Amino acid sequence: MSSNLLAGKVGIISGALNEESIAWKVALKAHAEGARFVLTNAPLAMRMGEINKLSEQCNAPIIPADATSMEDLEKLFSGAQEQLGGKIDFVLHSIGMSANIRKGKHYGELNYEWYQKTLDVSAMSLHRMLAVAEKQDAFNEWGSVVALSYIAAQRAFLDYTDMSQAKAMLESIARSYGQRLGKLKKVRVNTISQSPTKTTAGTGISGFDAFFEYADRLSPLGNAPAEACADYCISLFSDLTRYVTMQNLMHDGGFSTTGISEEIVELITNSKA
Ligand code: NAI
Repeated sequence: MSSNLLAGKVGIISGALNEESIAWKVALKAHAEGARFVLTNAPLAMRMGEINKLSEQCNAPIIPADATSMEDLEKLFSGAQEQLGGKIDFVLHSIGMSANIRKGKHYGELNYEWYQKTLDVSAMSLHRMLAVAEKQDAFNEWGSVVALSYIAAQRAFLDYTDMSQAKAMLESIARSYGQRLGKLKKVRVNTISQSPTKTTAGTGISGFDAFFEYADRLSPLGNAPAEACADYCISLFSDLTRYVTMQNLMHDGGFSTTGISEEIVELITNSKA
């Protein structure tokens, strides 16, 4: 049910690869809440063509951009303002990629070129986006930026390898740029730390099913689904959260503050019986 929470707002949504993508669900909900926006993804991801379906559904133009290319990002922000007819109210950064994870490298054998690429694609890209937006004075006052993170930024999850550092960096950039943009334009910048979610990026991690099950059984509310993450993003883009900024917001069904749960105790007790 829509409450028109984003009526009159315009934005940029990155990272919608297929129907499973968290960004895909954010786009559908933002559209239902009255927002107009541009969709963007890496030119390589566009080739799969699925984004065209979403573009039609949401009546949203697509501007391809590799999030590591300043030239692409400049075209993205200027193109978005042109196509949407004004400055930007919200941005979703929903971008993550690690070749080390893709190639199954364990933490002790990371390829350092890929490591740098992971940090560039998954974290520095947020800085690049915000720097381009600042230079173009692309934000409206009281705008909102949300990037998606994971608890491996704070806790060791070895299978998450170099993405752990990427998420720690992403959250730090959100704080630093949040301070700058807050002063300059009253724009807020936050990260949402989301439960494990069955998407292309998520299921690419070795041992993902175990991660997913463990988190689900530990969290009193269970894992937060992608749709609920999208709802949270919408609330952060809306005017109801205008003074929330520079935060890493846990959206994890209670996982991060739970020690142990009955389900985990039962599982271990039964496995010993
Ligand atoms: P996804 O695979 O659907 O989305 C990742 C997106 O990043 C894809 O659309 C991909 O094309 C895009 N991308 C990769 N390289 C790019 C580049 N150079 N330039 C522009 N775009 C690029 O997976 P998901 O899960 O929706 O991921 C979205 C965000 O959520 C990521 O930041 C991810 O780390 C984060 N996240 C995911 C969790 C999960 O368990 N799936 C849990 C917590 C956070």
